[in-house]
Amino acid sequence: MSRFQVGYFVGSISSGSINRQLAQALIPLAPERLAFCEIPIVDLPLYRRDYDDDYPAAGRALKDAIAAVDAVLFVTPEYNRSIPGALKNAIDWASRPRGTNSFAHKPSAVIGASTGRLGTAFAQQSLRSVLSFCNSPQMNAPEAYIQLTPGLIDDDGRVTVESTEGQGTSVEVSLPTASATASFAKSSTGARNEPVVPLRILVIDDELQVRATLAEMLEEQGHSVTQAPGGREGLSYLGSNPELVDVVISDLGMPDMNGWDVAKGIQGRWPQLPVGLITGWGETEITREERSRVNFVITKPFDKAVLSQTMADIRPRA
Ligand SMILES: Cc1cc2nc3c(=O)[nH]c(=O)nc-3n(C[C@H](O)[C@H](O)[C@H](O)COP(=O)(O)O)c2cc1C
Repeated sequence: MSRFQVGYFVGSISSGSINRQLAQALIPLAPERLAFCEIPIVDLPLYRRDYDDDYPAAGRALKDAIAAVDAVLFVTPEYNRSIPGALKNAIDWASRPRGTNSFAHKPSAVIGASTGRLGTAFAQQSLRSVLSFCNSPQMNAPEAYIQLTPGLIDDDGRVTVESTEGQGTSVEVSLPTASATASFAKSSTGARNEPVVPLRILVIDDELQVRATLAEMLEEQGHSVTQAPGGREGLSYLGSNPELVDVVISDLGMPDMNGWDVAKGIQGRWPQLPVGLITGWGETEITREERSRVNFVITKPFDKAVLSQTMADIRPRA
């Protein structure tokens, strides 16, 4: 049986990209007749028109890779509500020199994962309009906008698809844990099922689902958790029960009071109380100076090992 060749682009050039993990987790789900290969974009310089007269090797390799496949799949994050620059740059390279657009009549499909609630919806829309302009016939349905939330990633990595004819399809994705995260946990403390010391943790997050998942993960590790839906509620609880909390974990991006405001409020009144933040916007979004204002910052998506290690480093108040 001759196989249908699919070249996939990962729209992120970050190490530990959740979109590369998504791509790798999706491949085993595909029918046997599809074969996948990644079309790399990381080494492409920024495109400029000067290259068109004598296209550099990197550009030719990209165009050859696209010519060699029957279809392309884009697996991309969203950057500032649009396509990451590295991916757009690759598309620009492939669309040139004029008259040799590699995407013309090349079927394409789009999927993506982000830590934000909209799950790359805007990036995918931007990408679709670029692909339309490049005359690529697109797979329009189904669409898949994947948000990585705490608890979605388990230690094994799983993808489950349940489909009932006439009743639709439900997809559950559990991606492999990034190896850097796993080795951090192992090399520091080895496997750990119980916390060294159980903590009383106040979790502040405006999103019920995230708050509940985080609380469940912490409780599984032997801690006790009080939940608050916002900074004001959290501070009010602390005001009445300051002796009942060993550490506060607050979401960074919340309406009304954000995580920095919460940390400031806590440090003003209870300077000894450790407070940390969880954020879905990647570590690069937080400066070193900002980071020094809190005891820890956990970047979503995170797994149980990271959470357990972070809590193990907190000393409960005497
Ligand atoms: C420059 C930048 C812009 C971002 N903009 C968005 C955004 O608009 N929407 C969103 O959901 N996430 C956004 N994020 C968070 C990404 O979803 C998150 O970093 C994700 O892990 C990126 O995918 P990757 O791990 O495959 O690189 C942004 C991250 C960065 C670094």
